[in-house]
Amino acid sequence: MKIIDLRSDTVTKPDRGMLDAMMRAEVGDDVWGDDPTVNALQAATAALLGKPAGLFLPSGTMANQVAIRAHVMPGDEVILDRESHIFRYEVAAAAVVSGAQFNAIDGDGGVMTAAQVAAAVRPIDIHQPRTTLVCLENTHNRAGGTIFPLDELRRVSAVCRKHKIPIHLDGARLWNASVAAGIPLAEYARHCDSVMVCFSKGLGCPVGSVLVGTKGFIGRARRGRKLFGGGMRQAGYLAAAGIYALKHNVKRLAEDHARAARLARLIAEVPSLDIDLAAVQTNIVIFDCARTGMDSEKALKKCAARGLWLVSFGRTRLRAVTHLDVGDAGIERAGKVLRTVFR
Ligand SMILES: Cc1ncc(COP(=O)(O)O)c(C=O)c1O
Repeated sequence: MKIIDLRSDTVTKPDRGMLDAMMRAEVGDDVWGDDPTVNALQAATAALLGKPAGLFLPSGTMANQVAIRAHVMPGDEVILDRESHIFRYEVAAAAVVSGAQFNAIDGDGGVMTAAQVAAAVRPIDIHQPRTTLVCLENTHNRAGGTIFPLDELRRVSAVCRKHKIPIHLDGARLWNASVAAGIPLAEYARHCDSVMVCFSKGLGCPVGSVLVGTKGFIGRARRGRKLFGGGMRQAGYLAAAGIYALKHNVKRLAEDHARAARLARLIAEVPSLDIDLAAVQTNIVIFDCARTGMDSEKALKKCAARGLWLVSFGRTRLRAVTHLDVGDAGIERAGKVLRTVFR
């Protein structure tokens, strides 16, 4: 049975073209700063995001954590959304490695408003932690791949500038936001001090993220990366995949978005399933199976038995993610499995 793996866009495997590019990479020792392919990927990503410098890291988690460490001092407070990846899925790393405290806000669909951020900033007071960072996420994973509206980002940024608080953007899927909204990456990045983008999700690379910001910030981040054990040597073989992906796999994200929209419509046609179609803006589809009487674990097993792999996103919520290794036929088959399981 051929598996339709919609668990995540991280499950993609490099295609022939990407593997060839990796094999041909010119490499050096990146801890010494002399891997030309790593340097080229860092420069290309920084240019796309309109920032002076970039740093290649093994994962999105490490990139977020290196960024937080470069922004805050132990005992400082970070404002972020309660459903954000940094808060939910990074093993409390910011507490462990940066001594940071989180102030988690209940955003709406992944969006913290400027008013919410303003209300969460601590006053200057000897008893209270200093608020020294705001983290945002675009697209927002747990909200279902939703796009952070540019107008609200501008307003949040104005609040942060007033208080001299930097913004770090977890842009693991900023590519998706940019393609879906037709807004250049740099336009989002302009309102943020540091941005992390992942190459190992929708862009199809085996590993790798790039963090961008000012030269001073990236200098501190480079030290942090070394401290975390993320300094790699001939990493150009991996960075070459990123350069290939920038050329071949960004524009095509629109196909993943169209397939997610198609899958969402197929789900909406199943009477016992609930889905918010307006929340399906990019490549993530979240739906609820509460009315089927099954919890998500049972539903997952039933789908898996018919060759469809999803993940649980709550007691009765399931997530499907479209990506470059699943085509139109896979989506139609997924719809068929869902109709059979949740009939
Ligand atoms: C929004 C978001 N940020 C960060 C990450 C972390 O990336 P990695 O798995 O490369 O550590 C993920 C991973 O799924 C993510 O969805």
